[in-house]
Amino acid sequence: MTVWCLGSINADHFYTVPHLVAPGETLIVQSHSKGLGGKGANQSVAAARAGANVRHIGAVGLDGEWAVEALAGFGVDVSRIVRVDAPTAHAIIQVDANGENAILVHPGANMMIPTPDFADAFVGDTLLLQNETSGTIAAARTAKAEGLRVVYSAAPFDAATVREILPFIDLLLVNALENAALETEFSDIAVDRVVTRGSDGAEWIGVAKLPAHAVQAVDTTGAGDCFAGTLVAALDQGMSREDALRRAIIASALQVTKKGTADAMPLKEDVDRLIGL
Ligand code: RIB
Repeated sequence: MTVWCLGSINADHFYTVPHLVAPGETLIVQSHSKGLGGKGANQSVAAARAGANVRHIGAVGLDGEWAVEALAGFGVDVSRIVRVDAPTAHAIIQVDANGENAILVHPGANMMIPTPDFADAFVGDTLLLQNETSGTIAAARTAKAEGLRVVYSAAPFDAATVREILPFIDLLLVNALENAALETEFSDIAVDRVVTRGSDGAEWIGVAKLPAHAVQAVDTTGAGDCFAGTLVAALDQGMSREDALRRAIIASALQVTKKGTADAMPLKEDVDRLIGL
């Protein structure tokens, strides 16, 4: 089957810093690098590296050809990426000595994505979404009506968007902070839900709770995206929910041992090796 990923495409600018910059502070950075990012692009790359057939739906400006080429280089189908009259999105990412981050995103072209129709999708395909683009609700509604499995990673978290999208999704992905916000906002969440808890592992509510795979993290940026893409790829390949959860935990553990976002997504063979296949 196919994993359709409607998602952001960003130029990630990484700044290595001794600590995350404080209000009013001017900080000299230790290094700078640039790469492909955006939660959507990261999820597409993670799913492709996990063995899924991935079609990315997104938008870039005229300055974004390099990003489309990079996604294609990772094996992602880029035929649904449009060129629009706005700058390609970019992110300013500080990474501190503990591998923690703080991120600013200028959304640019990500907010000008035309609503996809899924006319050439099949029942059983997956639509993977996050919250960095225009058109998420409409896409979820259409995909659900067409019989796709709709998976929503609620990042960056926005309660109003979650409320609107809930009727159209099959699976909700949140981290511990997002889950706390969710439980404050909603008394009853009927949809399937996976909660990631960093070094405390992850839980598919009502299905399985698995520990983390211990590693020395150098950069946690994009770990949630790696988890989402890997989980969806595994489900698309027919794995059980518990096996998919295990693969996603291991893949994101591998991802945080490398610097960067899309470039740091692990290969399927490396995940297989750690799982013992
Ligand atoms: O989740 C990490 C991502 O968030 C980065 O790649 C950055 O572009 C922002 O979208």
